[in-house]
Amino acid sequence: MSEVLIWEPEADHENIREGAQDLQSELHRRVYEPYFANEGAAKSFLESPRTYWRKKVLEKFELFKGSPISGVVMEIGAGTAWCAAYLSRRPLVERVFAVEYDRYALEHLMPKVFQHSNAREEIIARVFGSYNHMPQVHNRVDLIVSIGAIHHSENLYATMSEAYKVLKPGGYFLATEPCEPNTLSVSAQIAKGESEDPAGLQKYGRQIKHKENSDHYYRVCEFEAAAYRAGLDVWAYVFDSSGSWWNSSDRAFVRRKVYNGYSNIVLRPYFARRSEGKRVFDRLMLIAQRPL
Ligand SMILES: C[S@@+](CC[C@H](N)C(=O)[O-])C[C@H]1O[C@@H](n2cnc3c(N)ncnc32)[C@H](O)[C@@H]1O
Repeated sequence: MSEVLIWEPEADHENIREGAQDLQSELHRRVYEPYFANEGAAKSFLESPRTYWRKKVLEKFELFKGSPISGVVMEIGAGTAWCAAYLSRRPLVERVFAVEYDRYALEHLMPKVFQHSNAREEIIARVFGSYNHMPQVHNRVDLIVSIGAIHHSENLYATMSEAYKVLKPGGYFLATEPCEPNTLSVSAQIAKGESEDPAGLQKYGRQIKHKENSDHYYRVCEFEAAAYRAGLDVWAYVFDSSGSWWNSSDRAFVRRKVYNGYSNIVLRPYFARRSEGKRVFDRLMLIAQRPL
């Protein structure tokens, strides 16, 4: 059985939206728990387009880094913690922290997910805490991974600043997230947050506005600015099917090439599966590094 640590998410109350934790809990019970009720359903989740894309992002990150993922890794906003389980099976990984502020996911979902995915539970700690407040691991972590989690942050600067503290010098932060173009207007961004989630009833048992679940529509530049301001170096890869095939290859990662002058290079989703119409799952692959 994996260890449980309590880092008191209430300590981050200023950055947690009232009601958002309850909504996430509802989502975990209604939508994700049924996936781990039996072997077949778990397999369909663990091999879904979303996990396929995100595992590919981990591979591309290794090209960027020039070596395999190793040492102490942390998944923030882990939810089901399928990715923490996946990382625990990497041979050079020594310790995994799965940080999540929904207690239900931590206690009821993660143990099932670990079983279904053959996780090395003895090296995993399930952490009940907020990713803006991670007091016990400063300067200890080699890699922080956010799989669709930091676009829920109410304060990206607080999140990136905490990541800076937790990382060892030279440690990396990798996030795969939805994002908006830099040209999105302020009023359009607000309107998106105010709009109703069409799947609200099925996901949460009631209609909700996107903002109630801390679902944000951050622009690429907002992720970058928060990371730079926190003292991290940043590389933002943006995927879109209207992007250029010219730069769509592993070379962009190996050479750490993200900018063409002053604008982001938009890459074609060249590693997406043909059977899914080369669909982009997350538009942003953000890599940040605490300078040595
Ligand atoms: C879209 S889900 C992604 C879950 C998971 N990474 C995955 O790939 O399935 C976002 C997760 O972040 C968690 N979360 C949001 N804000 C958080 C915070 N401040 N601290 C810890 N977890 C948070 C939510 O409870 C939710 O489980």
